Amino acid sequence: MCGIVGYIGTKQAAPIILDGLAKLEYRGYDSAGMAIYDGEKINIQKSVGRLKVLENQTRGGETMPGMSGIGHTRWATHGAPSDTNAHPHFNESGTITVVHNGIIENYLQLRKKLTDKGYKFVSETDTEVLAHLLDYYYKGNPLEAVTKVLHRVEGSYALGIMFADCADQIFAARKDSPLIVGQNEDGCFIASDVPAILKYTRKVYYVDNQEVVRLRADHMHFYTVDEEEIKKEAVTIDWDANAAEKAGYEHFMLKEMYEQPKTVADTLNPRIKDNDIVIEELNMTDDDLKAIKKIHIVACGSAYHAGVTGKYVIEGLARIPVEVDLASEFRYRDPILEEGAMVVVISQSGETADTLAALRESKARGFKVLGIVNVVGSSIAREADNVMYTWAGPEIAVATTKAYSAQLIALYLLAMKLGKVRDKIDDETFAGLLGDLRCLPDQIELLLNNKLKIQKFANRYVGAKDVFFIGRGIDYAISLEGSLKLKEISYIHSEAYAAGELKHGTISLIEDGTLVAAVSTQPDLYAKTISNMVEVKARGAFVLAVTCEENKEIEKAADYVIYIPETNPYFANSLAIIPLQLFGYYVSVGKGCDVDKPRNLAKSVTVE
Ligand code: AGP
Repeated sequence: MCGIVGYIGTKQAAPIILDGLAKLEYRGYDSAGMAIYDGEKINIQKSVGRLKVLENQTRGGETMPGMSGIGHTRWATHGAPSDTNAHPHFNESGTITVVHNGIIENYLQLRKKLTDKGYKFVSETDTEVLAHLLDYYYKGNPLEAVTKVLHRVEGSYALGIMFADCADQIFAARKDSPLIVGQNEDGCFIASDVPAILKYTRKVYYVDNQEVVRLRADHMHFYTVDEEEIKKEAVTIDWDANAAEKAGYEHFMLKEMYEQPKTVADTLNPRIKDNDIVIEELNMTDDDLKAIKKIHIVACGSAYHAGVTGKYVIEGLARIPVEVDLASEFRYRDPILEEGAMVVVISQSGETADTLAALRESKARGFKVLGIVNVVGSSIAREADNVMYTWAGPEIAVATTKAYSAQLIALYLLAMKLGKVRDKIDDETFAGLLGDLRCLPDQIELLLNNKLKIQKFANRYVGAKDVFFIGRGIDYAISLEGSLKLKEISYIHSEAYAAGELKHGTISLIEDGTLVAAVSTQPDLYAKTISNMVEVKARGAFVLAVTCEENKEIEKAADYVIYIPETNPYFANSLAIIPLQLFGYYVSVGKGCDVDKPRNLAKSVTVE
């Protein structure tokens, strides 16, 4: 996600900001910029591309003298990567500038209000709304302007703000997106994360939700959004620089697993309005949605596994036939796409060669393609007819976790939208589904806090040779992803099987002590899966069960049970996958594998 650095003090600000932004590059970005006050006015330099471009343009900051400033590395959400969409954004007179990490969910309404008042927008971003709103409320009191704006925006933000005619101070504010401030003898700092300012100070303050900070060269004041001054305790950072990039987590994969509650909420919340699902980016009317006769989901790897779940959920809720294909197969099998078909491609990176080829093949045949993509402005995002973004932020670990969870949410939303407009879901059921969706972030958090139990269990299997994952229906889709998580980062051979398929061959592989993970989250299939568990136990298997809290019956057939909280069976993948991600992670750690960069794998497979 985006990176923010701010400084005000007795040193030149630009070099400090560039240095801080460089320490935040690991967060992933596609453009960079900074605003520096030179004693008279605010100068802004920003450009698409790597931070190096900005460094070269400003000769390491030399061309932007001044002792206060804010800087930003942008991970595009609203608006493709471009110089204009890069931050900082500013008001028309250039006297107010802002950098932002997060999503302003009501930016369209605010943009319309401001446009009606004569404000002109130059970018496609949600952030630019903040610059003009600050202009609208600024009457000489910067703190008042900041708090008024914060009372009117919905969504998540970490902000750095500068006012040219109050240049002895800069402002920071936070809601949901991380932000810290710090101080040393040369000045005060704003940063999205510890690495950016660790070399200047180890004493930091974590800005809490809906807090505002006024930073001057030699001191800081903290306020609530109601302008009440508050006191905060500093925290001393004892991490080393490398650990700091992972915000204290040992691996990016663990950090990203723990970001899943937020990425699920970020993907969900902007698309729920007045207890209805609004997916503006579909650019399809209700009649268009009703006219869909078949959906082809095409993807690779974990995105394909999300697609398999999508099949069950869309067919279940919207009663539209869904065919799921591996992109590498789809593109060469001369697929039969009939009138009324819609193609959905799923890709975290938006650059997977096979998936991009499948998109092009579909479009060449005259079919509309919807992309479910995480990287804004990626090839698939640019070439799809419409894009539904997963707001997971940059995912560094090769093994996907948070992006996969966000893909599931996008598919649930699509299924519910289609089911609603086609009158397949009554109002009461729809309300219940919405309620279950809203509970997912907290339930995921709960399961993540179970990590020590999973770690202990995982340590027993670092020496395993074969592990099997079995399930029926959506549980089969969950098994596919659970198996991939284990094998791709621990190098242990693992297979996922439709539980009913075992007796057609695979069960011959079960030996004494073979671990079989049975996923059983679908109440109408509990009994069937239990019989499969009994089958493998009878041949010596050790059975791990992942099931719902209500399913106590399973304890008769399982050797070890992990329970997940109650949710709608259609959404069970979002919960059951959490312990399986943790299992794969801790087996890999236990084996001493390179968790974030497993051998032979790339984060984005841009070749066939
Ligand atoms: C997931 O853990 C793997 N790294 C891999 O299967 C990945 O899901 C696949 O390569 C598809 O990538 P994409 O989502 O970027 O298209």
